[in-house]
Formats: sequence, C-alpha cells, structure tokens
Amino acid sequence: HYIQVTKPESAVSPYACQRRTTLDNHNKIFTDALEVLAENLELSGNQGPSLAFRKAASVLKSLPAALRRQEETQHLPCLGEHSRAIIEISECGSSSRVEEILNDERYRTMKLFSSVFGVGPKTAENWFCRGLRTFAERMSEPSVRLNRMQTAGFLFYEDISKPVSRTEASALKIIVEEAVICVNPSATVSITGGFRRGKEFGHDVDFIIKTPEAGQEDVILPAVIKRFKSQNILLYSDLQESTFDLRKLPTHCFDAMDHFGKCFLIMKLKHEQEMDARAGKDWKAVRVDLVAPPLERFTYALLGWTGSTLFLRDLRRFARLERGKLLDNHALYDKNTFLPANTEEDIFAHLGLEYIEPWQRNA
Ligand code: CTP
Ligand code: MN
Ligand code: MN
Ligand code: MN
Repeated sequence: HYIQVTKPESAVSPYACQRRTTLDNHNKIFTDALEVLAENLELSGNQGPSLAFRKAASVLKSLPAALRRQEETQHLPCLGEHSRAIIEISECGSSSRVEEILNDERYRTMKLFSSVFGVGPKTAENWFCRGLRTFAERMSEPSVRLNRMQTAGFLFYEDISKPVSRTEASALKIIVEEAVICVNPSATVSITGGFRRGKEFGHDVDFIIKTPEAGQEDVILPAVIKRFKSQNILLYSDLQESTFDLRKLPTHCFDAMDHFGKCFLIMKLKHEQEMDARAGKDWKAVRVDLVAPPLERFTYALLGWTGSTLFLRDLRRFARLERGKLLDNHALYDKNTFLPANTEEDIFAHLGLEYIEPWQRNA
C-alpha cells in the first residue's frame, strides 16, 4: 500500500496522517537540508514560515525511495518553490544557503544555548544579544540569572545532551514500573513518544500511566515522585498538577499543552558495569516525562504523546477541516458529542482514516 514515487498519478496525501512514515528515510540528504532551514527560522521566532519546510521534509520522509530527478517533486504536495530549490541544490552537493546557516554565528550560538534543558529560543536570543557566545561566557556573566530548570540543565548538561538509548529506556521502564506498582498495584506503565515510534535513540523517555480507578490519576504522580526521592534517584522534578476539565471542548490551538497531570524529571540511571572513573560516578542523568490521564481519556493521551508532533498536527487539522470534528490530546468531539475510544484504531475509525501504526507515524 505504499505510494510509488514513479507513479505520480497515485497522489501522496498532503496530510501526514494519511501517509505511512517509517524511520527508513530514503531522502535524508534533502530532509536534513530542509530541517536546517526550518530550525533556523524557529530559532528566530518564525514558527509559521518554518512549518512549510517541516512539512516538505515530512512528505519526503514518507517516500518509498530516493528522489532521482527534480521533476519527481512536481507531483508531491507541500513542496513550495523554496523547498524545491533546496532539493535541487542538495542534489548536486550541498546547498550554499544551508552551509551559510550552519556557519552563521547567531544560528550556532542559539542552537548551543537552546540545547540546554529549560532554555528556549527567547532566553537563547537574550543571551546572544548580550554578546554571550559560549557556556563559559554565560557562566562568567553574573547578571544572567538562571531559573531552577536551567540550573539543572547546566548541572547535568553533559549527560542529558547525550542521546538516550533503547536499552536505557527499557532499564528506566523497569524503575518507573516498580514505583508505579508499589504506589498503585492496578496501574500500568507504557513507553510512549519517540521510542514507541520505534526510534533507537531519544532526547528523553516518555511514559504514560494508566490507572483503572477514577481519581487515582491525580494522586499517582506525587506518590511516584516521593518514592523516587526516597530512593535517591531524582535529580530534578517539575510536577504539573492536572488542570483537566471533563466539560472543556478541545482547543483549536495546536501548540497548547494538554491539561493532564504530568511531570518533567531528571533521573539517575545506574550504569550496568563500568564506572565513570574520573568522577567516580556510576550513573547517568536522563530526562524522563510522565503523564497520568484519567482512564476514559487514556487513548487520546496515548495518541497525542506518541507523536510525532507533525503527525498529530495534521491529524487534528484533518479532523477539523475534512471531518468537522475537534481532536486534541484529551478527546475527539463531533459537534458536542464526545467520541469514546478504547484503542487508537477506534480514533482512526472515528475519523474515517486507515489505521497508521505507531512506527509509521514518524512524519
Ligand atoms: N507532548 C504533548 N504534550 C506535552 C509534551 C509532549 O503532547 N506537554 C507530545 C509531543 O507533541 C510529542 C510527544 O509528546 O508528540 C513526545 O514528545 P517529545 O519527548 O518532546 O518528543 P519525541 O517524539 O519523543 O522525540 P525524542 O525522541 O527526541 O524525545
Ligand atoms: Mn524502504
Ligand atoms: Mn521523547
Ligand atoms: Mn518528552
């Protein structure tokens, strides 16, 4: 059921939720170039224009083979003239625009600063405008105040800037599961985010907790955090209590965070064997996210937290524009009727879409 590049008449959908996008990217040269352009725009606060490049890259990621000739892009959706130009240039070596960005002092500095946990584009820009270029310069600038999150971000930078492996994610799952079951024996833990989409590495590990009794979702996270603290494996925690209101309709805003109880953590993960001889440290700091939705909304939360961000954005857009329904991380509404879902298949069926497996959602 893959759409062939060589058969332009069988159109590729402009919606990521109607494409199967595995991690097997045959157009990495082009998508890397497009994503540098997108990132450069995002780092300068131009989220709107960056989306065009993100969408173009996403379409190419879904193709079953590498693009060979420029004209093959003619029949593809979401490829504007700027994206087409980049593809054309990337074909014969590298694009001068991409090279220019990669060498740009502002881009490089903004990318460095925003790689710190808790530092967003605004803070990164503020530091850049003060003339700061390196972590050392930031450190020796006493007027630059750090919040708690940024302090942790710098403290554990070396560890948390390294990718988290699937093996490390599995080891963390055992730790999280043990704590969750200790607090509530009927609760279960699932890996979500990039690892659920089949990625081998991630920037963090995302877990979703399922509690079968109503109301338990609100007490489980504080209890799990308390247990991690008593085990001395918690390096940072930011607990965001639920502000979820069952009567609230889904939002139209794509980037709004969901209202479920969640926490953003930095945890100590003990190494299997070798010690970090220099520091005498036998653990690695790892970023972990936990979310605990109420049972009747679990499937929507699972879908939302599985991502990818672009896949979910298009799924919501498709629901609204093609089906007149409202979808977000909490629910799917048809007019004012909530559509229950026990499985993700139910949600795709509600939307009249073919089911797309988690590992095909790497849009
Ligand atoms: N997400 C969300 N609401 C939040 C936080 C995250 O809906 N408050 C979603 C994101 O949109 C994404 C998923 O949860 O679809 C996982 O987020 P993240 O960990 O940032 O990205 P991953 O896809 O897991 O990528 P990585 O491997 O880099 O962690
Ligand atoms: Mn393939
Ligand atoms: Mn993740
Ligand atoms: Mn995450």
